[in-house]
Amino acid sequence: MKRVVSISLGPKTADFELDTEFLGHAFSVRRLGTDGDLNEMLDLLLQWDGKADAIGLGSMRFPNAIGPKHVLERRAQKIRELSERVNTPVTMGRALRSVVHEWSIRHVEFVLGNYFDNARVFFFSGLANHKIARVLNEFTDNMIFADPLLENGISKFIKSMRDLELYASGIHEVLKWLPSKKFSANFMPARLWNIHLLKKALQQAQVIVVPHYDFYRYLEDTGLEELGRKIIITSCAYEDRVTFLQERGVDVIIDTAPKVLEKVVGLNVLEAMMLAALEKKQDQIIDDDILEIICDQNMAPRVVYPSGTPKRVNRFAFVIHPLSQEFLKKEKTLEMVSQFAPPLFMDVVEKVIAYAPPFIYSKVTGIKSPTGVEAEGWLISVGGTPKQMLAHKPEFTYDHLLQAAKMAKRLGAQIMGLGAFTKVVGDAGVTVAKKADIPITTGNSYSASGALWAAADAVRRMGLIRVEKGKAIKGKTMVFGATGAIGSVCCRLLAKAFEEVYMVGRNTAKLLALRESIMQETPGVKLHISTRPDRYLPDMDVIVTATSGAGKAILDIMRVKPGCVITDVARPLDLSPEDVAKRPDVLVIESGEIELPGNPEMKNIGLPPKVAYACLAETIVLALEGRFEVFTIGRDIEWEKVREIYQMGLKHGMKLASISGVNGIFTDDDISRVLRLALKALKNWTPPRFSDAA
Ligand SMILES: NC(=O)c1ccc[n+]([C@@H]2O[C@H](COP(=O)([O-])OP(=O)(O)OC[C@H]3O[C@@H](n4cnc5c(N)ncnc54)[C@H](OP(=O)(O)O)[C@@H]3O)[C@@H](O)[C@H]2O)c1
Repeated sequence: MKRVVSISLGPKTADFELDTEFLGHAFSVRRLGTDGDLNEMLDLLLQWDGKADAIGLGSMRFPNAIGPKHVLERRAQKIRELSERVNTPVTMGRALRSVVHEWSIRHVEFVLGNYFDNARVFFFSGLANHKIARVLNEFTDNMIFADPLLENGISKFIKSMRDLELYASGIHEVLKWLPSKKFSANFMPARLWNIHLLKKALQQAQVIVVPHYDFYRYLEDTGLEELGRKIIITSCAYEDRVTFLQERGVDVIIDTAPKVLEKVVGLNVLEAMMLAALEKKQDQIIDDDILEIICDQNMAPRVVYPSGTPKRVNRFAFVIHPLSQEFLKKEKTLEMVSQFAPPLFMDVVEKVIAYAPPFIYSKVTGIKSPTGVEAEGWLISVGGTPKQMLAHKPEFTYDHLLQAAKMAKRLGAQIMGLGAFTKVVGDAGVTVAKKADIPITTGNSYSASGALWAAADAVRRMGLIRVEKGKAIKGKTMVFGATGAIGSVCCRLLAKAFEEVYMVGRNTAKLLALRESIMQETPGVKLHISTRPDRYLPDMDVIVTATSGAGKAILDIMRVKPGCVITDVARPLDLSPEDVAKRPDVLVIESGEIELPGNPEMKNIGLPPKVAYACLAETIVLALEGRFEVFTIGRDIEWEKVREIYQMGLKHGMKLASISGVNGIFTDDDISRVLRLALKALKNWTPPRFSDAA
């Protein structure tokens, strides 16, 4: 039996003895803690020389890979000199450590896919965990290092790898706060302000890297608020450490040390066992030995879920904006004033707010897919109403959206969606996607899908059109804003379902081009294009309106056939409540909102609880799927994407929300009433002649 002893600077209370097997040998392993007493460690080293096959030295703080070494170098030098004098092979786990830290990050990123993309990572010590920082930096540059604060009491963080390296070389400007420019290896006495800064930074992080030494000291001031729902990267997550993190609500622990024995042991123990098995000294062990053992033993870094079930939370941001002055008036500060102030005052407020920088309107939590993946995010508001966005050049809105993207990136969002009018102005997200540092989607694929999903549901519930499986629907449908991003894809999809489609727009050349491409895709359909739809309106069974008319009157509802289903996708709506009230025999629905899975919580966005605009839902579906990519931009939406997002949505538990109109949700009774009135009106209805149109 081979005998391995691990002498540790850690507490004596963690001592253990273990008989086990490793690399085909029986082992007796014993740990001896010294409660931080270096002299006792050295005495024990001499005592065990010749009595063990290999000795490990544990809980050592090593000189950092970068930065000033003198602080720890003397201590390490003393240990190294003594280790060379003893006959038994001695190791501090250096060879294993040089592989496993980096590998564990790459392993998790590979197995779990896009795991660290733009994660906000907090390092207690960037110098000690420099290797982990370097690898993580391949996936995120959203990192924050507490070295100046914890080692030198400077109330500042370092926020990039470059700055960390400057700091390590003693030339970073934060060091001008430190007159002597001396590095200390120990914690500075914590000042209240520094503790506050530290807690705040921990609360905002998604991933926290905790050095393996001084584990409890680093975390002593932390609780649920700082660690709850976080991913912790550390080395040697012993049982007591797992329990400690579990009690503070940690979601995931990534342990860079593999667990190959019955219990978690330090890397020095594993490496000492390797030396004993291979009968080598530490300087004889080469990288290939380590690689061979890792592969043979199927050693993998540990991913521990303290709650017992796998957890994954992806993050998104979504840009919203006030749809009109009425929305601005709902702001508490303006509510009172707006009641008495002349309309001119609100015009000025609307103009001024359009220039305001983006701000976080609401955090979104509680979205959970049936696959187990969760999503959380931020609704970021820009100030412009549609009127203001249209009054400025597109660059005005792009600037605000790029500021919002910066904010989203800092928050740790992995994808950002553009709400309502923010993707109507200019080139529908193309420029923003090119310039932003995180992937952008307009959400228009799911908006188109949601609009038709809702229309199909409403048509089915009205029951006026016969739908035969596998056959084109014998009915006529019309799309307003047909050449727009949402309108054009609605035309493409309706052309596949209906016998006749009328496409209405203002730009004749665009209409001709759209007709040409749909004829190629769906040759059998009867396609009509028009800039003056009035003459055809009375024949329509289904109408979709998706213009960016910003509330201007788009269609004359009095010319519409009783029983027609109108889906109003536009925001602001194309049909005013007054218009809708004129035709109780027509079903006007506010297009396809989506019911989110789980128990979503966010501030009011003008929809019932759990319900989101389809464009917001697209951003959430992509986050749940881990598809952090530019998905829908520009006005040429591919209908394959519409189908893909629809299917991904179903997989993640998205449902069509109850269809609603200007007066709220349509119950079955409401729909029966519209149907009754429609059937009655149809008996005496004669389509208005075109010359009757204004
Ligand atoms: N419900 C949702 O979840 C949701 C999601 C996203 C967007 N939306 C809303 O959907 C609408 C369309 O968005 P989009 O991205 O498709 O916009 P878009 O690409 O800019 O298309 C808008 C279309 O409306 C036409 N249009 C503009 N003003 C008009 C007017 N006064 N009269 C007639 N047609 C007019 C435009 O015609 P020209 O080509 O001639 O300019 C264009 O074809 C917007 O109101 C947007 O806010 C809703």
